[in-house]
Amino acid sequence: MELGRLDAKINLKDSAGFSARSFRDALGCFATGVVVVTTHPDGYKPIGLTVNSFASVSLDPPLVLWSLDRGADTQGPFLASDHFAINVLRADQEALSVRLSTRGSHGLHDDEYETWETGAPILTNTLAQFDCEVQERIDGGDHVIFLGRVKRMASREGEPLVFARGKYRELKS
Ligand SMILES: Cc1cc2nc3c(=O)[nH]c(=O)nc-3n(C[C@H](O)[C@H](O)[C@H](O)COP(=O)(O)O)c2cc1C
Repeated sequence: MELGRLDAKINLKDSAGFSARSFRDALGCFATGVVVVTTHPDGYKPIGLTVNSFASVSLDPPLVLWSLDRGADTQGPFLASDHFAINVLRADQEALSVRLSTRGSHGLHDDEYETWETGAPILTNTLAQFDCEVQERIDGGDHVIFLGRVKRMASREGEPLVFARGKYRELKS
């Protein structure tokens, strides 16, 4: 038997029959890009959060989703907001990813974003941007799933930042 599966079977630590550690390890096998989700609702400062739960959902209508940990510090502004923007990071933006995944460091500088239709901060220096209005918030266990309708988007040439097995990676072409 392959080692990862054996580990999952002997760590019967919760109702699922496998440990949180082995679940995380298995999920980490799925390589993703890295995005910064931004928002700026009334009464809050503009913020950004590093996320890899982003996914495309529908082409027509244009829908995307991402999920937010219910324990996240940034829950207040995201739940108060009717908009968000997805900003896809470039391979050389690991430092930005680290900054916006650090507690107490989710604020945005005036010179790093602009706004389009929804008022969500668009990080100007990123690989692709999706300006979204919130279509639905869906219960996702210990996360809240945000389904967004894309109002405007842009993309450009360049290499994406990649995340897999808990580490930032380079795409080998
Ligand atoms: C590569 C990467 C992907 C992440 N993906 C998510 C995600 O999909 N959803 C989420 O809520 N937090 C995600 N996080 C964690 C947040 O960026 C952040 O670290 C966490 O909310 C803790 O910050 P806080 O203490 O200010 O809430 C991710 C972090 C990293 C580094």
